[in-house]
Amino acid sequence: MRQEDRFDVGRLRERFSERFGRPDLPSEAFFAPGRVNLIGEYTDFTGGLVFPCGVDRGTLLIVRRTHDSRYRLASTNFDLTAELGQHEIDRTYGDNWINYPLGVFDRFRREGVELDGMDCLYTGNIPNGAGLSSSASIEVVTAFAVNELFGAKRSLLELVRLAQAAENEFVGMQCGIMDQFAVAFAEPDHAMQLDCGTLEHRQVPLALAHHALVVSNTNQRRELNESAYNERVAECARALAALRERLPIAALGELSAEDFIAHADALAEDPVAARRTRHIVEENARVRAAVPALESGDLAAFGQLMNASHESLRDLFEVSSEPLDHLVRIARDQPGVLGSRLTGAGFGGCTVTLMPSEGVSAFERTVEREYRDATGLTADFYTIRPGPGVGRADGAGWRS
Ligand code: GLA
Repeated sequence: MRQEDRFDVGRLRERFSERFGRPDLPSEAFFAPGRVNLIGEYTDFTGGLVFPCGVDRGTLLIVRRTHDSRYRLASTNFDLTAELGQHEIDRTYGDNWINYPLGVFDRFRREGVELDGMDCLYTGNIPNGAGLSSSASIEVVTAFAVNELFGAKRSLLELVRLAQAAENEFVGMQCGIMDQFAVAFAEPDHAMQLDCGTLEHRQVPLALAHHALVVSNTNQRRELNESAYNERVAECARALAALRERLPIAALGELSAEDFIAHADALAEDPVAARRTRHIVEENARVRAAVPALESGDLAAFGQLMNASHESLRDLFEVSSEPLDHLVRIARDQPGVLGSRLTGAGFGGCTVTLMPSEGVSAFERTVEREYRDATGLTADFYTIRPGPGVGRADGAGWRS
């Protein structure tokens, strides 16, 4: 990946002072990671199971409360900056990253927290729109910072819900809770099994023996992602409505494999909804099998479930893309690879591959060449090091 590998909090503070002046007013530093989902894709908004981990890349925010009813928002990653007054922060600002913090401000205000001005400088090293939750990372770091600066006293789970609501209602992406939850609750060297229906979750040590999880970015430009995503949400709602005529379920994630088979005729006239439902039922079963496989050291079984997940996302849920399929196919041909699948919302973005650690350099070289031959695109690679969730960033570097 091309972004800087490590943040320098001191350097960002200097840039903050250069941009906003007022060195007399104190500022604070916060960090939230991105996330990689290992298995359990497109199950969260139907109350299903997911298995993500935080990564050691994310968003660093230097921020201060200004008491002047002005909101100055800047990022080192984009040219666009905004300075808005108190009455301009309740609506979207074009179609860009600023809507993520604005959505969070809006939620706090709707919940009765009076905001009175902030200077915010963001920097991120997660590739945008690559399926690694750069948006949830911005939302959650903002929510955490506002909570601290304005003494809003929200719990971490309340901040997660608030950030998700910001994305659903302000940005207009009907996402589930996985990304915001993972970014907030991530723990180093663990992935979390999360039941998105009950929010019960369990941290599972990522004991990979001599294996690594490698993220490969297609660098495919993602278009129509948001509308295609919302379309999937609507298709699942349609399936649920049809099944509820027969079954007392509140969410598709509650549907058992037996009931799906027994009531298949309820979806007979809507083959699209039937395919989406089958993916959800089977993907939940895969998460249920994958986590114990990992815990018992059966990495081969975990890899096979990753492969099956990709096939299902490609054929039943229809969220893959040609570059993603090429990247997965090429990855699986490399020595020792146990599994490879798209991760995140698909339609481009990244894959995640489970493979022997010692082969990673050769893998990157060969996959890069073969992928370029197949698609004309250049892939980026990154080995996952599961890092901590949202929090304050220390002075020397967020990873002390
Ligand atoms: C996006 C959404 C998540 C989840 C994934 C697919 O990342 O934000 O809520 O639905 O796609 O698993």
